[in-house]
Amino acid sequence: MDAFTFHNPTKLIFGKNQIEQLTEQLPSHIKNILIVYGGGSIKKNGVYDRVMKELNKTTVQVHELAGVDPNPKLSTVRKGVELCKREGIDFLLAVGGGSVIDCTKTIAAGAKYEGDAWDLVTRKNTPDRVLPFGTVLTLAATGSEMNGGAVITNWETNEKYGWGYAPYTYPTFSILDPQNTITVPREQTIYGIVDMMSHLLEQYFHNPTQSPVQDEMVEGVLRTVIDTAPKLLDNLESYEHRETILYAGTIALNGMLQMGYRGDWASHNIEHAVSAVYDIPHAGGLAILFPNWMRHNLDVDEGRFVQLATKVFSVNSEGKSDRQIAEEGIDSLREFWTSIGAPKALADYEIDDQKFDLIVNRAMKRGAFGNFSKLEANDVEAILEMSK
Ligand code: NZQ
Ligand code: ZN
Repeated sequence: MDAFTFHNPTKLIFGKNQIEQLTEQLPSHIKNILIVYGGGSIKKNGVYDRVMKELNKTTVQVHELAGVDPNPKLSTVRKGVELCKREGIDFLLAVGGGSVIDCTKTIAAGAKYEGDAWDLVTRKNTPDRVLPFGTVLTLAATGSEMNGGAVITNWETNEKYGWGYAPYTYPTFSILDPQNTITVPREQTIYGIVDMMSHLLEQYFHNPTQSPVQDEMVEGVLRTVIDTAPKLLDNLESYEHRETILYAGTIALNGMLQMGYRGDWASHNIEHAVSAVYDIPHAGGLAILFPNWMRHNLDVDEGRFVQLATKVFSVNSEGKSDRQIAEEGIDSLREFWTSIGAPKALADYEIDDQKFDLIVNRAMKRGAFGNFSKLEANDVEAILEMSK
């Protein structure tokens, strides 16, 4: 393991009707709260009403920023920052999925920053304070509810970057009630499952050896998600399966499973470049790219792929070479994702190779990347070619 310090400041409040804890989590001095939400799902499923019912018990003035898009835009961040400064907002509450939370994190930092919030996303500058914020999560996927990351897209320049600055960009609290995720449509449920599995896999492919505890934990969460996903997709209204998947999504990316190493994260970087050029769902891109990243990097450490194949996908190793076992593991991942309805080629989104140069350029913007294996432009191109 590498040396590490673990500190996660987010208070996690999990379970049925835990929204009732909302008001006691709010700092006592606040006067103006901004609720940030997306395209209206929270109005249809009653989450908005439940949040307002709690806030109406207080004297805080409630302001709203609606319409945060999936793959949240810099333009929405700027709108939110302006609103915060104009209205003297002193607390933000994100009510939604990862996009709403990421947008809120960046608004919270931008509101206390003199310049343009894009400076923070591009890491030209770092925040030294932020507006405090909490979240009410409605979709199991990103882990943003309990981590310090945020991903923002600038459509003027076709750039999509993850950023964050601990401890400022961690929510002060996050309320997770599985009931609030029951209305997540089938397609978004599939994307959430692929995203959390990808987070587990990104961490699994790390360089430091001697991580037996972490390996068992990642493998265990992966096996549980693989076991639960088809049951949930058969019965989208199952509280129990929603609960399992919601918890898995948070654990997958709250730092708990990443102690002692960084993980690879190249597939995420390539996906962000793809969805900065084509506005496709994050996890749709991952489902296409990740198995191809694996095939491209099989020689880096074949043993790691063998371990994944046998421990997560129960590949029978009898009479087979390591290469065969490793490849069967990658095939099993692809088959699993296809079986639950995830895309497997860029063509599924009608994306051809016309803009591969631009995608490669965007992926390489911060130089060679990936920790398990460092990728250069030609590697990214090869993975994109395999993904057509
Ligand atoms: O906008 P509304 O109407 O709310 O609808 C949303 C949206 O259309 C809908 N939805 C959410 N909760 C619902 C619901 N529909 C019905 N019932 C509910 N309870 O789902 C759609 C997708 O929402 P979105 O927030 O975009 O999904 P997700 O949570 O997957 O977030 C994706 C974004 O997070 C970034 C991605 O790049 C992408 O921009 N990521 C953030 C990470 C982080 N901060 O740590 C890590 C990830 O790897 C990822 O990159
Ligand atoms: Zn992700």
